[in-house]
Amino acid sequence: MAVLITGGLGHVGSWVATLLARQGKKVIICDMAAPHVDRMGLDYLEEVRDNVHFEAVDVLDTHTLFETFLRYRDELEGVIHGVSVIAGPSFQTRPFKHLSINAMGTLNVYETCRLLGIDKVVNMSSGAVYGDAAGPQVETMPYKATDLYGATKISGELYGDQYTATYGMDIRQARLFFVYGPGKRPSHMHAVYQAMFGPLEGLRDVHPDNGRDQTTDWTHVEDTARGILALFDADSVPHRHYNISCGVPIAHQDIVDSVTELLGHDSGMRLGPGPFVVRGSPLDITRARTDLGFEPRFTDIREGLEDYHRWLKKNA
Ligand SMILES: NC(=O)c1ccc[n+]([C@@H]2O[C@H](COP(=O)([O-])OP(=O)(O)OC[C@H]3O[C@@H](n4cnc5c(N)ncnc54)[C@H](O)[C@@H]3O)[C@@H](O)[C@H]2O)c1
Repeated sequence: MAVLITGGLGHVGSWVATLLARQGKKVIICDMAAPHVDRMGLDYLEEVRDNVHFEAVDVLDTHTLFETFLRYRDELEGVIHGVSVIAGPSFQTRPFKHLSINAMGTLNVYETCRLLGIDKVVNMSSGAVYGDAAGPQVETMPYKATDLYGATKISGELYGDQYTATYGMDIRQARLFFVYGPGKRPSHMHAVYQAMFGPLEGLRDVHPDNGRDQTTDWTHVEDTARGILALFDADSVPHRHYNISCGVPIAHQDIVDSVTELLGHDSGMRLGPGPFVVRGSPLDITRARTDLGFEPRFTDIREGLEDYHRWLKKNA
């Protein structure tokens, strides 16, 4: 059997694809970046490339999406949807485009699956659906959007729940939170990410305007991917929504300090006052632990940072 992953060349999607391919599964990656895969430096994905097929598809291009899914339909176990413009300072610079990719792109994936009889879909949602509600945040808490990105993730969940209720599909929501780790180069990221993780790649003296007054559960990408797969692999689930994170809150300044300690020198990183994005924390992962047997490996951020550092050195 095969699994199709939209956004499978993204940070999270590429790890989901890799873990599936390592199990010997055929993986179809649908991602606009497919023509550039050889230049992306994703060594872990390269190792399993024999099991991976690449398709360059824009999730807003309904017809191409349909034709592509149709070609693989008969061998598909299901679809994992991971295309989004992620939260950050650039999201609001192109609101219509970014809202379209996140909301309409997700709807296109659900609708294509409905038309083709592909019932099982895991959508990569976000802890942003809780807004700034105080943690620990549990899945039964009401939706609250504190920014445009959060609104798109809420809409993706609502469409999914209604497609499940109306058409008997099986659309599951993995609520992810603040992902770091191998595959993501700090030099390609926003300034707050650079100030925290950049020294692991040799960056110095980044001074973002904000980010210091935030505590949240930064999660190693392999844990995130394993959580998504635990949700995908479960035969049946008693709930539609699952928090997937390490479940352990850490202050942004503590990440800066842990990186300094790991490297043995100060890289001149200074976070500005205030939060980076308005969110509560942490996600309570009891439901994923109980129903899916999900157990994050990197609950001590220092171990996650060491692993990340090894990857960045190897892939400099
Ligand atoms: N990264 C995080 O910290 C985080 C936190 C919570 C939730 N999430 C969610 O997890 C999912 C994956 O996040 P990520 O960090 O891997 O994102 P990413 O930006 O690394 O990957 C997104 C992928 O989507 C592709 N893409 C973008 N627009 C496209 C389009 N129109 N058509 C086809 N492909 C397109 C990109 O080429 C990229 O490979 C997203 O839904 C995101 O909202 C991420």
